[in-house]
Amino acid sequence: MAVQDKLYHVLGAKQFSRSELEELFAASRAMEDVVRAGGDRRHAGRIMTTLFFEASTRTRLSFESAMNRLGGSVIGTENAAQFSSAIKGETLEDTIRIITGYSDLIVMRHTEIGAAKRAAAVSGVPVLNAGDGAGEHPTQALLDAYTIQKECGGLDGLSIAMVGDLAYGRTVHSLSYILANFKDVKIYYISPENVPIPPSVKHYMDDKGVRYEETTDLNAVAGSVDVLYQTRIQKERFPSPEEYDKAAGQYIVDAELMSRMRRDAIVLHPLPRAGEIAEEVDADPRAAYFRQAQNGLYIRMALIDRALQAE
Ligand code: CP
Repeated sequence: MAVQDKLYHVLGAKQFSRSELEELFAASRAMEDVVRAGGDRRHAGRIMTTLFFEASTRTRLSFESAMNRLGGSVIGTENAAQFSSAIKGETLEDTIRIITGYSDLIVMRHTEIGAAKRAAAVSGVPVLNAGDGAGEHPTQALLDAYTIQKECGGLDGLSIAMVGDLAYGRTVHSLSYILANFKDVKIYYISPENVPIPPSVKHYMDDKGVRYEETTDLNAVAGSVDVLYQTRIQKERFPSPEEYDKAAGQYIVDAELMSRMRRDAIVLHPLPRAGEIAEEVDADPRAAYFRQAQNGLYIRMALIDRALQAE
């Protein structure tokens, strides 16, 4: 058996079945009680490494908070490209082999699609993918789905508009895969013409029988959806400033757009935002993106707990 077969890695969103999602959501609910009680010591003596080759606020700090809330310790680097031995030419595989000897769990964000799978292939401890380039961000999608379940009462039958940079925005790829587990979901992919949802995501949705439409017209869709999932245009991933300029600034969620949306709809965003949701929207009760970020703590506590128990 390969080393990774007996470990609980989280590498991509397709790995989750509906029953696993429901189990994870129930565990996350229980973690909300753990936090309210001030945390516990169930993973005292265990060590988690956070290895981040790209910038992060929410993902790294919520994972680190989660491990601390469960009694464990954290080591790591927030700028692994500069401050790990990667800068001396060490391969990712060698770095992972070394960290395996120092900790019980690795949370990694990397610039390259597929990096988490490469890490898991040589790791002796669970690897949780905290974002691999323009590929996937599965733990973000899990907290997104958890938020939708809490805010909307479930995921079956919902219509969801995913808006913005759907080509480089890894969260919408992973969220699409998660949503494919639920019944009668309808997705509207709304993007500038130069950053559409990738064919690989559409093929998966076709295989799973998920209904979706592609459009550039947010105004035509905003009034009918349950969830508007806004995203940042990923400036750092564009091949040229000209391509970025073509995509930037086309979709802004502001008070005027909110006035067209349903009273029971919600607005999500994985954050950080860079102008695509106006601050005037923050006070609207339908603006759920800060609650969404908070849910990341509970989901990541549940994932850490699952990974360390499975080891
Ligand atoms: N949503 C998200 O991944 O945020 P960070 O880049 O701050 O981790």
